Amino acid sequence: MYSYRNIYLYFWNLKLLKFGNLELDVPFFQAPLSGYTDRAMRVLAKEFGSPLSFTGVLLDKIALHRKAIRKLGLAPQEDEHPVGAQILGADPIKMASAAAHFEKIGFDMIDLNFACPAPKVLRRGRGGAMLTDPDTIREIYRRVRDSVKYPVTMKLRIGRGSDSENHEKFWQICENAVEDGCDGLVIHGRTVLEKYRRESNWEILAEVKRKFPQMTIVGSGDMFEATDIVKKYKENGIDGVLIARGAIGNPWLFTELRAIFEGRDDYLPPTLAEQGKVILRHYEMIAERLPGIKGIRYFRKFAVGYCKRHPERKKAQMAIISVRNRDQIYAAVREWFGVE
Ligand SMILES: Cc1cc2nc3c(=O)[nH]c(=O)nc-3n(C[C@H](O)[C@H](O)[C@H](O)COP(=O)(O)O)c2cc1C
Repeated sequence: MYSYRNIYLYFWNLKLLKFGNLELDVPFFQAPLSGYTDRAMRVLAKEFGSPLSFTGVLLDKIALHRKAIRKLGLAPQEDEHPVGAQILGADPIKMASAAAHFEKIGFDMIDLNFACPAPKVLRRGRGGAMLTDPDTIREIYRRVRDSVKYPVTMKLRIGRGSDSENHEKFWQICENAVEDGCDGLVIHGRTVLEKYRRESNWEILAEVKRKFPQMTIVGSGDMFEATDIVKKYKENGIDGVLIARGAIGNPWLFTELRAIFEGRDDYLPPTLAEQGKVILRHYEMIAERLPGIKGIRYFRKFAVGYCKRHPERKKAQMAIISVRNRDQIYAAVREWFGVE
């Protein structure tokens, strides 16, 4: 089973993805995904091969709200580590307190979101809007770094817009981060204004890594298919890749990537029945936190993801998203995925 190629890959893989003192054994991980990466998705990501996962982004003031943290079930549990939190805000002092609070409740690293393109976030001058203000980003980073011991990274897009002024500001932010000893930059290769239009620009990510070889650079954008992901990772010389939309309803992507990076050729795509079992487990984990119709409704977006590879996608999806209770979800998954 171990060909020369596999042995080569095995040694090549000895390069670890590092954020400060946190080391990952494979160069990819589960992205923060607001509205998705709750405990259930994080547990599955880990079980299927992701070496790290994240909460969705949280506003700094919510991070300081004990009741909200309890209600959202945010504090990480024993079986989730390593797990990072991500915060959003424009006030350096609040961001530093939020980061310190997340360290206290057990997270393993903190990521600062300067990338979110949601209009309500931009209107308040947060997330991607911050990319026009390198000085405040720097101040936030320094305050956070000085108030915690765990690794601190930043999530960026490649500018607010694509004009030269925005471009320069992006490079300024990267340069400041390197000078200040930031533990890593996770960069989505689109501008904020592009949202999800156009392909992610991986050339800029390669350029950032060439300019700042000492900085851990993780690339993000259009990571859906394992061989393409590995190609982008290798071609662009970056340290890691972020798996975002590609993992929704597809935790097997982590298994496949892990096999490739470990130089194994034993990955087999899951059968429909295997997929069905995972769908039901995922639903059960959600139902623990959200019983009844709330959990059923919340699960729909994951069901859509799980049905994407089904040979009768539309029919399977319609059957699963139209259920109203637990018995019906089991019946639909049995019918369309053949679970015993
Ligand atoms: C539904 C959804 C929620 C997201 N939530 C977050 C988030 O909370 N924090 C963050 O940094 N990025 C978030 N992102 C961006 C992703 O992490 C990733 O950078 C982006 O989707 C590009 O990767 P992809 O094209 O492989 O999906 C989100 C993306 C989507 C589609």
